Amino acid sequence: MRSQLFCAALYAVQVLADPSWTSTPFNPPSVPLAVRTPYLNTWLPQGTGNALNDEWPTLWQGSVTGWTGFAKVDGQSYSWLGAASIDGVNFTKATQKSFTFTATQSIFVLSAGPVDITVTFLSPVETDFVKLSIPFSYMDVSVASTDGASHSVQIYSDISGEWSSGALEWDLDWTTTATNVVTHQLNLANPAQWEEVSDHIQYGAVYYSALNGKGVTYQTGRDAIVRTQFLNNGTLTNTKDTFFRAISYSWPVFAISKDFGNVGKTPASFLYTIGNVRDPAVKYILTGGATQSRSLYFWSKFSSITQLISFFLNDYSNALKTANALDQKVEADANKISPDYAGIVALSIRQSLGANELTISKNTHGGGWNTSDVLYFMKEISSDGNTNTVDVMFPAFPIFLYLLPELGQYLLEPLLQYQVSGQYPNQWACHDLGPHYPKATGHNDGQDEAMPVEESGNMLIMALSYARATKDNSQIRRYANLLDQWTQFLIEDSLIPANQLSTDDFAGQLANQTNLAIKGITGIRCMAEIWGLLGDKAKQTNYTSIAANYVQQWLNLSASATEPHLTLAYGNDSSWGLAYNLFADVHLKLNLFPKSVYDEQTAWYKTVANQYGVPLDTRHTLTKSDWEIWTSAIVTDTSVRDLFITALKNTLSNGLNNVPFSDLYDTISGENLGFKARPVVGGHLALLIV
Ligand SMILES: *[C@@H]1O[C@H](CO)[C@@H](O)[C@H](O)[C@H]1NC(C)=O
Ligand SMILES: *[C@@H]1O[C@H](CO)[C@@H](O)[C@H](O)[C@H]1NC(C)=O
Ligand SMILES: *[C@@H]1O[C@H](CO)[C@@H](O)[C@H](O)[C@H]1NC(C)=O
Ligand SMILES: *[C@@H]1O[C@H](CO)[C@@H](O)[C@H](O)[C@H]1NC(C)=O
Ligand SMILES: *[C@@H]1O[C@H](CO)[C@@H](O)[C@H](O)[C@H]1NC(C)=O
Ligand SMILES: *[C@@H]1O[C@H](CO)[C@@H](O)[C@H](O)[C@H]1NC(C)=O
Ligand SMILES: *[C@@H]1O[C@H](CO)[C@@H](O)[C@H](O)[C@H]1NC(C)=O
Repeated sequence: MRSQLFCAALYAVQVLADPSWTSTPFNPPSVPLAVRTPYLNTWLPQGTGNALNDEWPTLWQGSVTGWTGFAKVDGQSYSWLGAASIDGVNFTKATQKSFTFTATQSIFVLSAGPVDITVTFLSPVETDFVKLSIPFSYMDVSVASTDGASHSVQIYSDISGEWSSGALEWDLDWTTTATNVVTHQLNLANPAQWEEVSDHIQYGAVYYSALNGKGVTYQTGRDAIVRTQFLNNGTLTNTKDTFFRAISYSWPVFAISKDFGNVGKTPASFLYTIGNVRDPAVKYILTGGATQSRSLYFWSKFSSITQLISFFLNDYSNALKTANALDQKVEADANKISPDYAGIVALSIRQSLGANELTISKNTHGGGWNTSDVLYFMKEISSDGNTNTVDVMFPAFPIFLYLLPELGQYLLEPLLQYQVSGQYPNQWACHDLGPHYPKATGHNDGQDEAMPVEESGNMLIMALSYARATKDNSQIRRYANLLDQWTQFLIEDSLIPANQLSTDDFAGQLANQTNLAIKGITGIRCMAEIWGLLGDKAKQTNYTSIAANYVQQWLNLSASATEPHLTLAYGNDSSWGLAYNLFADVHLKLNLFPKSVYDEQTAWYKTVANQYGVPLDTRHTLTKSDWEIWTSAIVTDTSVRDLFITALKNTLSNGLNNVPFSDLYDTISGENLGFKARPVVGGHLALLIV
């Protein structure tokens, strides 16, 4: 009790400390800075309000990825990024005036005396496979005078070796090349292929680059030495420290600076790019147990990283145009629901896509890349690091259906290929494709985390969703027998689901879960639709009638005898939960469950909402943001829909949290409960696909 009181007091103080800058649409718990892959995934922890120069950026899990920005304006020194301090050198923090985030960008404006510095972090969201697979992000720094006069301006930025490893005692090598492009490349001296330490990848290289030209200088060396050089002098020395050492030994940093000369009210800008590239990227199990090393798709277009970086730097104006168009489309679509919803969606997009990587293989004979062999991989960030976890892909699936359904197909494909190969022994769909990213090595012992009804239903629903969205039946045709095998399991186990886990595994096992039965029965009906698309009318009719018959029985089993709601588990009349699995019935227009169920649930949720939303079920006061939004997409009253949405937006903006969008939080306290940066937030786009 004492610690709870203490926390309450602490939070009361934090909530009062509102940031002094304007935030559009609001101040989120953490701001995406460079978020494109599980390893290029850097954020600014925010809480009630950290300016860009109050805190160090961190990898999603919280370890510092040192990233520093300084400026000199008429000889005065200012910091604008990171939390560096240097003994014996004075500088002022530029004052953050505004912060804006969109689906693809985080934009900060800071004033440094008579000059405004606008820092735009752009993590592209592309539909072109080459561009979407490039593991790089942009930071554009633009300066302009605000007092009508012109001012002498130099800017500086560096990164530390912390971008390269989860353990700071690992030895680092580095090189700097300065041709048309200045690039610092950081490698581990003893890389460990496929391995992570603290969710950092322990091989590959980190690249920090900018276009070379007038006023551009660079330097590598001990943090205080390099930063002092700039702060005293306004330029760097174009020199390289070649005493290779551990990341934390006299902290080497990798800096690039630009002298703009005199800047008036017309903005002058300088572009940095940061990337984290490893090759091969994913280890993948083939038929017969052999493994394949797969590479990111962009290699089909570029033969070297030098070429890639040069392309990426020169493509910024295109990237910005594409990003602005996408931002506007997402905002317009989401605003049709509400501004609160638009903010939730904008914050979800980079996070969700940043868990994934698009890969190809080498041609089996001869050289070259096989761009007919595309597989998309997802890391189950934060909860356990599995590869292509089915019940994480499933909540995320709306983002793919909205942005680019092909990505959904390529995400399902590795699981389907693996299970059709016969190496997975269970009759139901497996939970994931490997216990730790970036290894997709299967579960030939069948000992994956068992969620039999959950994952079988998920696979069937996702496979049909893709085919429906694209009218491409090739995947369901290739795997029809496997999909039918899972359907047989659902026919046996979904009406009366055995004691088992659902996706909400933190709640433990439970028999006869009402919501899980919805999933299983919907899966059977999806197989009916699949057979219909493939022309087997007999199976379509049979499975349609099995599903309809199960719904009739389920209506009887699932209703509370004492209160107007579905139960959490059959026969437990006082229990209830979010029946979010009804979303597929709505989204796929199956009309499987009667409208009375939707109406009754809608009315019930209204009576049980807490300040920060409706609890997931009667076992706890916690909830899941993905299931809140899915439920908001199936209720039959827009005021209840908006209740869910606004409660989630209020959770995000309450100042109590400082990690990347957590999908698990308490509906009373509004505090998150451990999960962060997970791709499931792609499910927040559910209202855009119904
Ligand atoms: C930094 O500021 C302090 C306090 O204003 C001052 O005493 C010190 O001399 C300054 N140091 C430098 C290197 O300018
Ligand atoms: C800045 O550094 C350069 C190279 O180290 C040096 O030539 C120059 O004199 C310095 N300028 C000032 C103002 O310190
Ligand atoms: C490319 O991949 C496809 C799909 O996996 C495969 O069928 C084909 O044989 C591959 N081609 C080559 C040349 O390896
Ligand atoms: C599950 O529900 C069925 C049908 O009501 C019942 O027969 C069975 O005993 C229940 N199982 C458990 C473990 O409660
Ligand atoms: C319908 O499907 C079930 C489950 O696969 C099967 O047992 C039954 O024989 C089928 N009925 C018909 C008429 O094909
Ligand atoms: C459920 O089924 C039982 C047995 O058939 C029946 O007695 C009962 O009235 C049904 N309940 C509802 C709510 O339909
Ligand atoms: C009914 O559900 C509640 C919470 O959902 C749980 O605490 C209780 O133990 C359950 N009762 C039975 C008999 O299972």
